[in-house]
Amino acid sequence: MRFFLDTANLEELKIGASWGILDGCTTNPSLIAKEGVKFEDRVRQITEIVDGDISAEVLATDAKGMLEEGRKLAAIHKNIVVKVPLTKDGIQACSAFSKEGIRVNVTLCFSPGQAILAAKAGAYVVSPFVGRVDDSGWDGMQLIRDICLIYKNYAFKTQVLAASLRTVNHVIECGKAGAHIGTMPFKVMEGLFSHPLTDRGLEQFLKDYNKAFSK
Ligand code: G3P
Repeated sequence: MRFFLDTANLEELKIGASWGILDGCTTNPSLIAKEGVKFEDRVRQITEIVDGDISAEVLATDAKGMLEEGRKLAAIHKNIVVKVPLTKDGIQACSAFSKEGIRVNVTLCFSPGQAILAAKAGAYVVSPFVGRVDDSGWDGMQLIRDICLIYKNYAFKTQVLAASLRTVNHVIECGKAGAHIGTMPFKVMEGLFSHPLTDRGLEQFLKDYNKAFSK
């Protein structure tokens, strides 16, 4: 299972990279806007920190505009994955990109049917939004299970990039469902380290050692 950070914050990315477990990064227009920086500049800065896939989303909503923007983004660095929304134009752009050898992340996926479209259009990854499905009273994790099953049934090459993960448990459940990648906020990645028994155990080890040898 690959771990991505869902952020455009450089400090968070530097810390994640220093842990040696960071496989990539996903951004979206909201995350870039939160940083208050120029989009392409930030994408370039991220390529200097993250050694792995970096999703950069187009702002155009028509296929022609998506293709123009996406080609420019893909030219920034070999690790850029062009992110397009799961609309008719997005799927059209995805089909064209995949024929050109440009890797695509089809985002804003909320149903297994949409995920099939992304796979048929040759998407490199599809991003189902677990938390937002939960928010709307449906079962986000079931969406991941369904997509993983369907992709397996047909040996689709598209990978499942579980997004909108809000809790450590979301990450664990995605792993159980067989999602290829989980993209998560920094707090969730940091939360994966935590267990009270680890802290208590370490404290006890050091206490015992010091008691025996510090005389
Ligand atoms: O990768 C998609 C993600 O940024 C959405 O997360 O928490 O805003 O639903 P959230």
